[in-house]
Amino acid sequence: MSDSIPRKWVDGPFELLSSELSGTSKNKQAKGTQQVAAEMTIVHNCVIRGINAIYLQAAKVAAAGTPEDKLDFVNFALRWARMLDEHHRSEEEEIFPQINKLAGVSGLMDANVDEHTMFHDGLSDFMTYLGSIIREEDVLDAEKLNGLIDSFMPALREHLRNEVLTLKALDKYEDTTDWMAWFKKTADGLVMRQMKSPVFRVESFPLVFVLHDKSFEGGVWENFPPVPWVMSIIFRWMFFSKHQRWWRFAGCNFDSLPQELLFA
Ligand SMILES: [Fe+2]
Repeated sequence: MSDSIPRKWVDGPFELLSSELSGTSKNKQAKGTQQVAAEMTIVHNCVIRGINAIYLQAAKVAAAGTPEDKLDFVNFALRWARMLDEHHRSEEEEIFPQINKLAGVSGLMDANVDEHTMFHDGLSDFMTYLGSIIREEDVLDAEKLNGLIDSFMPALREHLRNEVLTLKALDKYEDTTDWMAWFKKTADGLVMRQMKSPVFRVESFPLVFVLHDKSFEGGVWENFPPVPWVMSIIFRWMFFSKHQRWWRFAGCNFDSLPQELLFA
């Protein structure tokens, strides 16, 4: 984060995961399970930046935002929650069972699934509340919203960290599996499937860009998302513009570079 942006930003209050957790750095090419762990860290940091953006801006949006600002903010928050929910569903239904099978150890990833249950109810209450605001059955109350976040976020932050370490530790089974080749194939397949949904393309896909920070830790992950610039221009035009008022609450712009939080 540049010094020119002194206000609160999405690197807190919930702490981002360092690239050191996966054993990677800007000057060290990641290998095997380190690379898988690094890819998961990138996604998990998007999750953390998203909830930080919501947590930091809720009070000012509720107090000083227009009705339109409030609705956009709540929509942004709900899309963040749905993205997270979908991430965990694909892990439980697809990714973790495949890891168990490839490693030849049944239940290997069970601890990670158990951790999902520790924040599931809080996240579900958060989504229910956001939905009720959108349906105009309730109003945006920052204290209530942030109270719900406080109810699940410590367990979620811990889980996001633990899962990276679990993936890195799969190097024990490296002689039987090329983990990075498997991960890339699985993740690509997942994205291809998701991109077939018009709703995903305009309501979730933009989050990949605005929740990632290319300048993080000196640019360790500056090549993510792996999209040629021409494609990012096309994406902007085709998919990002429809709900661009939602994405203005994120900590980064469509180039995945830091921007000031409007309501922090
Ligand atoms: Fe994950």
